[in-house]
Amino acid sequence: MATVTVGAVRERAPGERRVALVPEAVTLLRRAGLDVLVETGAGSGAWFTDADYTAAGATVVPLNELYARADGVLCVAPPDQETAGALRSGQTLIGLLEPLRHPDLVTGLHRRGVRTLSLDLLPRTLSRAQSMDALTSQANIAGYKAAVLAADSYDRFLPMLTTAAGTMRPAQVLVLGAGVAGLQAIATARRLGAVVTAYDVRAASRGEVESLGARFLDVQSPHNEEPGTGQGGYARELTAEEQQAQRAALDAFIARSDIVVTTAQVPGRKPPLLVTSAVLERMHSGSVVVDLAASELGGNVEGSEPDKTGVLANGVTVIGAGHLPSAMATAASTAYARNLVALLRHLAPDGELVLDPADEITGALMGGEPS
Ligand code: NAI
Repeated sequence: MATVTVGAVRERAPGERRVALVPEAVTLLRRAGLDVLVETGAGSGAWFTDADYTAAGATVVPLNELYARADGVLCVAPPDQETAGALRSGQTLIGLLEPLRHPDLVTGLHRRGVRTLSLDLLPRTLSRAQSMDALTSQANIAGYKAAVLAADSYDRFLPMLTTAAGTMRPAQVLVLGAGVAGLQAIATARRLGAVVTAYDVRAASRGEVESLGARFLDVQSPHNEEPGTGQGGYARELTAEEQQAQRAALDAFIARSDIVVTTAQVPGRKPPLLVTSAVLERMHSGSVVVDLAASELGGNVEGSEPDKTGVLANGVTVIGAGHLPSAMATAASTAYARNLVALLRHLAPDGELVLDPADEITGALMGGEPS
C-alpha cells in the first residue's frame, strides 16, 4: 500500500499569515501514517520555523518539489492562478476554496482532473463533522479578536472598578448577530467584565446568549413568530417591513451602547445593514463600533470598510474589521490544522487517501465535482 503524501503550501494572498499545517498537526499526521511535506517558509507568518516542522517529522521542500510529490495539497485560502495552475491531474487540493465565490477556480481544476475538497462546504450540523468545521474555528477567532480590538480602542475600562479614586461603571457592550463569532465576542467581552446585551434574528440563539451571562435584546417582530430562521438553522433575509421594525427597536439601544460589535451575515447575500449613519450620529463621543461583516459589498455598519478605522465627527470610532483570523495567525492556523487533521483521518483512515463521493462528508466537500 502506497503511503499518502500531503503537502502544506505557503499562503500567497496579500496579508494572509495563516498556514494550513502547524508542527503539532504534522506529528499527528505522521502518527496516522501519512508523509508530510511543508513548503519552505510556509509557517513564518504564524511564527513557525522550518526547523519546527522538520523536528515534528515533516520534510521542508520548495514549492515545485511539493507539487511533484504530494497527493494532497493543503492550503487555507484559495490559491492564486499560478499556484492552482501548477496542480496536476490526480492531485487533491484541500482548503477553504470558496467555490461559490470563485466558481472558475474549482471548475478549472476539475476540468484538468484535479480534485478539490472545499472545507467551507462541510455539512456543519453533522456531529461527526464538527471537528473538521473550519468556518467555525475561524469565526471563533474573529469574534474573540473583535472584542479585544473594541476593548483596545475604547478609552475606558470594560469592568466595573472600585478604586481609591472612586467607582468606574462597567462598559455596556452590544453584540448584533449571535452566531459563532458573535457568541465568542459576547464571551470575551463578558470575561473582560463588560455588561453585554446581544441580538440575533434567530430566536434559537436566545438560550446561547443567556448561557454566556448576556442579556438577549427583545425586538418585537411585526409577525408574532420566529422571523429570522431560514434553512439549515441559518438566518434568512428579512422582509422590508421586518427590517424596519427591527431597526427602530435596535436604534435606541445602539445609540446608548459604549461598544457595538456587529457580526450579522446571511449566507450568499450582502450583509444586512444594522447600524445606520443616523444612529452612529446619536452615539456618544468615545464609543466604539466594530463591524466584523465589513466587506467590499458593504457591512452591518453604514460606511464601514474592511481594514479601515475612522473616527466620526462626533467622536465615535468605527472599525471595519479586516481579516481577523489572519491577524491571530498562530491560533487560527493551529485550529485550522486540527480541522485538517480530523478531515485527513476521515479520508485516509488506513494511510490511504480515499475520496468516496457517496460519503456524506467527502461528497459535500467535493461540491458536485463531476465523477
Ligand atoms: P453567519 O456568520 O452566517 O451569521 C452570523 C449571525 O448573524 C447568525 O447567527 C445570523 O442569525 C445573524 N444574523 C443574520 N441577519 C441578522 C440580522 N438582520 N440581525 C441580527 N442578526 C442577524 O453564521 P454562523 O456563525 O456561521 O452560524 C450561524 C448558525 O449556524 C449557528 O448559530 C448555528 O445555528 C449554525 N451552526 C451550527 C453548527 C453545528 O451544529 N455544529 C456549527 C456552526 C454553525
